[in-house]
Amino acid sequence: MSSGEPVRVRAARESDLATIAAIGAESFSGLRPLAAAERWVRACWGAQPRMRYWVAERSGTIVAYILWMEKGGFRAEAVVELEQIAVRSTLRGAGIGGELIRRSLEELSRSIDGEGRRVKVVEVTTGSEQGAVEFYRRTLGAEVVAKVPGLFRGDEFILIARPKPDPTR
Ligand SMILES: CC(C)(COP(=O)(O)OP(=O)(O)OC[C@H]1O[C@@H](n2cnc3c(N)ncnc32)[C@H](O)[C@@H]1OP(=O)(O)O)[C@@H](O)C(=O)NCCC(=O)NCCS
Repeated sequence: MSSGEPVRVRAARESDLATIAAIGAESFSGLRPLAAAERWVRACWGAQPRMRYWVAERSGTIVAYILWMEKGGFRAEAVVELEQIAVRSTLRGAGIGGELIRRSLEELSRSIDGEGRRVKVVEVTTGSEQGAVEFYRRTLGAEVVAKVPGLFRGDEFILIARPKPDPTR
């Protein structure tokens, strides 16, 4: 992490959902008003273990969340999508998002490994105006493989990363 107090990354609990929704509403126009974010977050929570939230805490306060989603079934060669990530607007650019991605993906991968499966592909999509392509290149080693014109507010880039198989397994 580049600056600030240490961040603790942990799997989300049901009592975190209101804070996750608040950070989501602050970060994405599609999650406004707040009541719509609360409804969405609760629906995703209800889709466990297909969808799983992790949060990042600083001094016991949630400052970011990430939502991972498994695609196409609980496959032996799992395809996972980073569905959403957001950091409190006042705390961006301090390394929190990167830390949250790396730690939560480690935990998700360990959990999938524990079922005798493995993560084959990590997919993430982002809007061109969000400037997050570079962020995902750096944090996941993901590369742009396609562009979908006019998906949400503009064009959407699909990025793919392929984690190296664990040689100890
Ligand atoms: C995108 C977001 C999650 C990044 O989290 P963050 O805590 O600000 O990012 P970090 O400080 O951990 O940055 C990690 C790396 O990505 C780079 N990076 C982050 N945002 C970037 C951007 N917009 N453009 C270029 N590089 C960027 C950083 O320079 C850093 O690189 P380094 O580790 O080599 O120094 C955060 O800015 C956010 O919540 N944005 C609003 C919501 C959003 O757009 N979410 C993504 C779409 S789902």
